[in-house]
Amino acid sequence: MHRRTVLATGAAFVTLPLARNLRAETLPTLTAAPARVQLAPAGYPQTRVWAYDGSIPGPEIRVTQGARVTRRLVNDLPQPTAVHWHGIRIDNAMDGVPDLTQKAVPPGGSFDYDFIAPDAGTYWYHTHNRSWEQLGRGLAGPLIVEETGGPEVDRDLTLMISDWRIDEDAALTEDFGAMHDFAHAGRLGNLLTVNGAFEPRIPVRQGERLRLRLINAATARILALGWHGMTGAVVALDGAPLDTPDPETRRVLAPAQRADLILDVTAAPGAEAFMLQIAQDGGYALASFPVETGTSAARGPVQPLPPQGWTEPDLGHARTLDLRMQGGAMRGLPEGATHMGQAMSMRELMQVGMIWSMNGTAGMTETPLFTLDRGESFRMPLINDTAFAHGIHLHGHHFRELRDGVPGPWRDTALIRPGETTEIALVGENPGDWLLHCHMLGHQASGMKSWFRVT
Ligand code: C2O
Ligand code: CU
Repeated sequence: MHRRTVLATGAAFVTLPLARNLRAETLPTLTAAPARVQLAPAGYPQTRVWAYDGSIPGPEIRVTQGARVTRRLVNDLPQPTAVHWHGIRIDNAMDGVPDLTQKAVPPGGSFDYDFIAPDAGTYWYHTHNRSWEQLGRGLAGPLIVEETGGPEVDRDLTLMISDWRIDEDAALTEDFGAMHDFAHAGRLGNLLTVNGAFEPRIPVRQGERLRLRLINAATARILALGWHGMTGAVVALDGAPLDTPDPETRRVLAPAQRADLILDVTAAPGAEAFMLQIAQDGGYALASFPVETGTSAARGPVQPLPPQGWTEPDLGHARTLDLRMQGGAMRGLPEGATHMGQAMSMRELMQVGMIWSMNGTAGMTETPLFTLDRGESFRMPLINDTAFAHGIHLHGHHFRELRDGVPGPWRDTALIRPGETTEIALVGENPGDWLLHCHMLGHQASGMKSWFRVT
């Protein structure tokens, strides 16, 4: 007993300065830098991208629920940058939003991210500076938080889908800020990759049970995903478990949205299963899964994931604020909007690159769009008065998507089709200043960006 106490005390004396040193030296780095990768099909040249640690997608960060995530962002890009950890109920100071939660990291600089990942689920990290360009050049990666007591599966696979606009030499086209794109659906690409590869082949076994974590990392493209040769259920959306697994496995994912699926391989050995992008003229393969002989043992029905236990918004006593989206091609902003505190005409707005408004304002405001007391319930009908779809994301919080006033799934990004309204409800639980914006990143850059405060 006595000897132990002495040792412990001694150790504390010795390790305190040493530990501090060690921490500074061993903080794992995440380096943003130009790289060359093979994005286009074989036979095409490599593409110059911007990547984390030289790979597309960036390295998968995988931790268990409640673990601490530390990364030193090293900026070897020719532009300032910052990393946002999308969907994490994060410490506000670590949220990675230039001019709101930190200063953008200049070229040659670094920033230490250090936070707890409180909830299990499929998340991702991406640049949050000039994201319409920097994410379009490749700066994104998966962030997977594993639950304890998760489902039994044979394999857990992350599939991050990206949309690139390349020319005939497989080079990214340099038209990142094009106003025509921003005023329409955004900068849509002409090459979809899965984990940085064009139509990757992923061998599977018949009867194998897969957990697939889908992440739409496109800057603007809405994906409509389907399956051939695999059946099962959706178990989570935007990292949040569904109360009941949903056997409808075809899924529309707005930019930034995620879905977790548990699928059994049903295709016969020698055949292929597919993940499909469903288009008007049918489906085309985004990834193929050549099937090998397996056990084909019957598996039980897909079970729900352990629930998150988040606080339910009190719908009856919640404050309500509409969010009205306006502008863009076709409709415009005939009444103008406020930008940087100034009332401006549509013409004046366009001269400063503003095409969209939310509640009559284009871009950031001096004061928050709304302020919530900690624990306060809040409802927000997201009203799309434009001719284009939008994917509205709130930082630092998940919300319930309401269906006819009834709570639907928890999400962190809501897709609102032209002319539609989607109501969301949340509890202001996480103190700080949080962004609220369209995840069609060209829309964000041209007006659809605001913020709220939780005190
Ligand atoms: Cu995924 Cu404000 O971001
Ligand atoms: Cu939008």
